Amino acid sequence: MMETKRLQAEQLDQAIEFLKNGEVVALPTETVYGLAADAKNDIAIEKIFIVKGRPSDHPLIVHIESVEKVSEWAAYIPPEVAILAEHFWPGPLTMILEKKTGVSDLITGGLDSIGLRVPNHPLFFQVINGLGNAVVAPSANAHKKTSPTHPLHVLKDLDGKIAAVVDGGSCSVGIESTIIDLRNKVPAILRPGAITQEMIEKVLKKKIYAPFKHNEKVAGNMEIHYQPEKPLFLVSLNKIKKITEIEKNIAIMHISEIEKKNDAFYYKMPSSKAEYAKNLYATLNDIDKTQVTKILVEIPPNTQEWADVQDRLQKAASK
Ligand code: TXA
Ligand code: MG
Repeated sequence: MMETKRLQAEQLDQAIEFLKNGEVVALPTETVYGLAADAKNDIAIEKIFIVKGRPSDHPLIVHIESVEKVSEWAAYIPPEVAILAEHFWPGPLTMILEKKTGVSDLITGGLDSIGLRVPNHPLFFQVINGLGNAVVAPSANAHKKTSPTHPLHVLKDLDGKIAAVVDGGSCSVGIESTIIDLRNKVPAILRPGAITQEMIEKVLKKKIYAPFKHNEKVAGNMEIHYQPEKPLFLVSLNKIKKITEIEKNIAIMHISEIEKKNDAFYYKMPSSKAEYAKNLYATLNDIDKTQVTKILVEIPPNTQEWADVQDRLQKAASK
């Protein structure tokens, strides 16, 4: 065990020092908190896997300062990179490219591809800038658990295991970045996020793949992921009504208006996708602290815009 420091924005120098010394530090991004290590330090990178309990073949995203750095990591830069970077970087988009020879196998989990993203957060930016290197950063949670969108969520899983968490308050997006594979003629979304298929097609001026079962190529995307402590079920409003007739002590996350029963706990979710996404993990974390026995979630709209929320909830659901 070590003492995990909670650092404020004025104390960023300490976070940078820790990273320079090969420690791992949780940093805020606009999507979720990341567990950062110096991308050029294999010993530091190994710590990420140990701390998270993450299988060593799950590749990590390299967070870079700007699109100019792509050439340090990628062997080939297809024309889509510049277009997507212009529109969506810094921001919640990760590009999968052919990796350059010499990039550590620890980062790529032995794959010949590399995931790159320029996050949109001033504190994160200042850290990479101060370190003078890119950082690798998976979400700062224990393997398979919900991603942290607040420093307290990070501490829940990782207190005593990491050098520090930098306090950037709540994340503005709240769901992990969209991952797009740009290695083939037709780009493919491997993980939906706030940057939607439609937004990408519009700027690329062509159709891309967004398979509903999009996970095969992303080693880290398993059927079970993003799980709260309580069992979670995705159900229709009708089914929620029926279940609350007979069961007590359950949490209900709903968007629609719903008739409330005394013995259930209602969590009204925003009807705007962006707001829902921002609140999703925090709500699951809040519910985990209560005595309820299960979580019923009203199925959100089945549209492209909601693809990221749908995806996370389906993986969070008990199988
Ligand atoms: O928004 C985000 O992407 C956050 C913040 C911290 O940047 N990071 C994040 O990292 O969600 P992580 O490690 O929890 O999820 C990254 C996903 C994993 O499913 C991993 O398998 C996939 O990205 N990935 C990384 N590199 C890859 C590669 N070369 N090929 C395919 N998938 C890759
Ligand atoms: Mg993760």
